[in-house]
Amino acid sequence: EIRGIKKELGIDEEPKLTVNSLEVLRKRYLLKNDKGENIETPAQMFRRVASAIASADRKYGSDVKRAEESFFRSMSKLEFLPNSPTLFNAGTGTNFAMSACYVLPVEDSLEGIFTTLKNMALIEQTGGGVGFDFSRLRPSGDIVRSTKGVASGPVSFMRIFDTATDVIKSGGKRRGAMMAVLRVDHPDILEFITSKSKQNILTNFNISVAATDKFMNAVEKGEDYDLINPRTGKIVKKLNASEVWDKMMENAWQSGDPGVVFIDEINRHNPTPRAGKIEATNPCGEQPLLPYESCNLGSINLSRMITRTGELNWEKIRDAIHNSVHFLDNVIDVNPYPLEEIDIITRLNRKIGLGVMGFADLLIRMNIPYDSNDALDLGEKIAAFFEKEAVNASEELAMQRGIFPNFSGSIWSDKSEGRRNATVTTIAPTGTISIIAGCSSGIEPLFAVAFMRHVLGGARLFEINPLFERIAKDRGFYSVVLMEKIAKYGTIQNIKEIPEDVRRIFVTAHDISPQWHVKMQAAFQKHTENAVSKTVNLPQNSTPEDIEKIYMMAYKLKCKGVTVYRYGSKGEQVLNLGLDK
Ligand code: CDP
Repeated sequence: EIRGIKKELGIDEEPKLTVNSLEVLRKRYLLKNDKGENIETPAQMFRRVASAIASADRKYGSDVKRAEESFFRSMSKLEFLPNSPTLFNAGTGTNFAMSACYVLPVEDSLEGIFTTLKNMALIEQTGGGVGFDFSRLRPSGDIVRSTKGVASGPVSFMRIFDTATDVIKSGGKRRGAMMAVLRVDHPDILEFITSKSKQNILTNFNISVAATDKFMNAVEKGEDYDLINPRTGKIVKKLNASEVWDKMMENAWQSGDPGVVFIDEINRHNPTPRAGKIEATNPCGEQPLLPYESCNLGSINLSRMITRTGELNWEKIRDAIHNSVHFLDNVIDVNPYPLEEIDIITRLNRKIGLGVMGFADLLIRMNIPYDSNDALDLGEKIAAFFEKEAVNASEELAMQRGIFPNFSGSIWSDKSEGRRNATVTTIAPTGTISIIAGCSSGIEPLFAVAFMRHVLGGARLFEINPLFERIAKDRGFYSVVLMEKIAKYGTIQNIKEIPEDVRRIFVTAHDISPQWHVKMQAAFQKHTENAVSKTVNLPQNSTPEDIEKIYMMAYKLKCKGVTVYRYGSKGEQVLNLGLDK
């Protein structure tokens, strides 16, 4: 009887959320009334989203209620979560789109630039992030015929986008994120590389140099390469590739920017080359897209895919993948796109990006150190399984609903009978949805065993890794004093009273050598159709040469891009080791 009442009240449906999760949900996700009070519970939020996304099934004559139940179940059990904009906007009647990722083209005209600026604003309002390739813009100092003046170049226009984003951010739910890409052969490349070297400039941008194979070869041989004016197509100058490469490393060492996107490797995997070339990725780099294309992401929580005996439950993962592909494909249909151009190309390719979160938690539960060959093997096996099953699910959907319109002429047309989606897998950072799910983010190792987390609005939350807390209690070495000591250092590697085997399993991002970070990124990339979001952490005392080795290694291992983060090199950090207090 009590269970019946509970069910009626929806109590049975309430997901088990951590304090941090509830905090984040209350602040940014749960619907509010005009007074700013939350007017839905987390379960009601998942119901709202499940119902809005399931409604797409009606068009295909499938069972809407059944889809709603399975979507609701997977989200409320924290087994699967879509990217934040879907949680923010689905079923709210706001007409805000649900994708996290967009790429907008920037044309070489004042009108073109400001049209893109406006389109960016419309996207940021929905919580989506935008990537731009600024390479079509004529270089600074070039002529402007209409005004008889001189052009100010890509970097100065980036400042306008940055300022606009600042203004939008103050009214929105989350910080707008942007990615600026510039081809390495653009005449303004040196200015671009140093554009973020001063603190507090272009803070809403991640910047990445689009490095071509030609350039990478020139770096290895120490040769010169050509800079080309995009307006005229003419070679205007030569630079020494190694010198440009070194400049990139110096700046990445100083500020984390620029990252690199290996643009030729990306285009070798462009599924729809006839629909255009890929020029840029979304802000965190995991989603290469065509101009005007958008993509919605979702991630399966691996820490909830473990059997009682501590094995991976592959059957459960398979079901979760099929359910999630169904979910993400539905999003494409119900998504109110902010622009007609986005609507058109998104529906022609129907890209989705399913990935994982909680990978580090999984490794801990399976007693595998992150920086080990066993972890690489498991990562690769998981990625391959995701790719295979997500493709299966997409092929099944194609039989029920039709292939994606650009299928013929795509790289899949002679490999598959038909797919519903041009791409199916992406490894997202899962920065916020992993907090909601209470798991480690994406495929990253633990950031710290205990730390202070900065959240929106300046608050700081103290966190101890729950798996560590449990082990410490089970094995009898838990004490408040010890936990405080850990929080001070973040890492437990030098705390002798913690057993050796526990220290080995609870390695954090900064304990792990940068090479292992890259190897893990490459292991997942091998079987991921889009790209992999991964931060390669380096210790504070590492050098630009260390960064150089990492960038080159990422290129050799066929990563689609690489980003490093040297501890302490950025002004603002989302996560801080306790030591910083
Ligand atoms: O966890 P959540 O769904 O909020 O996002 P994520 O997985 O950390 O980031 C996925 C993508 O969302 C990023 O690559 C950006 O395209 C976008 N994003 C954004 O625009 N602004 C943010 N503050 C965070 C993410």
